[in-house]
Amino acid sequence: MELTNVGIIGCGNIAKIHAKALQAIDGVSIAAFVDIDLVKARSLAVTYGNGKSKLYASFDEMIKWEKRLDALHICTPHYLHVPMTIDALNHGINVFMEKPPAIKRREFEELLTRAAGCDRRVAVCFQNRYNGSFIKAQEILRSGRLGRPIGAKGIVTWNRGREYYDAAAWKGTLSEEGGGVLINQSIHTLDLMVLMIGEPVQVEATFSNHRLKGRIEVEDTLEAFIRFAHADALFYASNAYADDSPILLEVVCEKGKLRIEGNTLTVWNEAGSRAKYEFQTAALNRKAYWGDSHPACIADFYNGLRENRSTLVELASVKDTFSLVMDIYESAKENRVVNRKEK
Ligand SMILES: NC(=O)c1ccc[n+]([C@@H]2O[C@H](COP(=O)([O-])OP(=O)(O)OC[C@H]3O[C@@H](n4cnc5c(N)ncnc54)[C@H](O)[C@@H]3O)[C@@H](O)[C@H]2O)c1
Repeated sequence: MELTNVGIIGCGNIAKIHAKALQAIDGVSIAAFVDIDLVKARSLAVTYGNGKSKLYASFDEMIKWEKRLDALHICTPHYLHVPMTIDALNHGINVFMEKPPAIKRREFEELLTRAAGCDRRVAVCFQNRYNGSFIKAQEILRSGRLGRPIGAKGIVTWNRGREYYDAAAWKGTLSEEGGGVLINQSIHTLDLMVLMIGEPVQVEATFSNHRLKGRIEVEDTLEAFIRFAHADALFYASNAYADDSPILLEVVCEKGKLRIEGNTLTVWNEAGSRAKYEFQTAALNRKAYWGDSHPACIADFYNGLRENRSTLVELASVKDTFSLVMDIYESAKENRVVNRKEK
């Protein structure tokens, strides 16, 4: 098998999870570690490098020397995702980017157009699409045995205190993070809801910053009422809780309902009987509550590249979720109902 040469740009928290997942894939080698802070790049390379891996302080420096990179993992702050992905595509490099795909509608559209016009792949790390609980839930919904979804709720209550924001200057800023608990933490749960229910048509939302006033510019708490074609959904997310609770996602159908709570799926059928499914976690680290399917998601990306097929997290597949995030922010900021048709 020909070696797949990979680079990682942004060697902070999440890059470790990417590097570990890459190390476990046969035929993949991390050739370049890139970070404006070379100490971080070096520290990742020591554990996950191939012995000859190179360190770079910028994308431009990397591209000057790395003549045959097959893929780049973008693990940088949010505002850099689009420019770095476009730079990589312009150099013929496939991209596996962290969420969110963008922080503004215009730049997401620009990215979609650029990706559609080239033969390289762009995937977005919505790793929870690979969670056993979600895959089983989708299988049940698609079988039709519970009937059509008529309602849903999503709840994410985590703890992102002062120390979280103090550890990275970009976090908590509108220009670099682009938002708070919605676009950063709970976007995964919103994404699963959209995949289960379908295209959203209308939203009304409010948001606030309760806990870290004056310290962060972004929302720590958000609620939204989302109308889908045949279902209404409630969504609540907050970073101002004292704990990192397992996420809760419930779908009420015509003939029963299902609930994902952490790694457990519970299904109630029409007669009221209940089935419970527990899924193993990969136990990547103690933060597995935010979703530990990075290895499955990343392995699928490389299998997809080798087999020339798309995967569950192709850029185009995240459009509904990203547009909903933008609609929710628009509704909360302008204090009005936002219709998808207006877009
Ligand atoms: N999928 C998930 O569940 C998940 C979980 C955590 C974080 N993330 C995402 O991962 C990304 C990074 O988050 P993090 O928590 O690791 O942040 P972080 O601040 O720990 O890491 C970001 C790194 O990027 C580096 N950097 C900044 N500007 C750079 C530049 N111009 N060139 C090269 N490197 C640069 C920083 O020095 C830092 O090391 C974000 O998009 C975040 O939303 C995803």
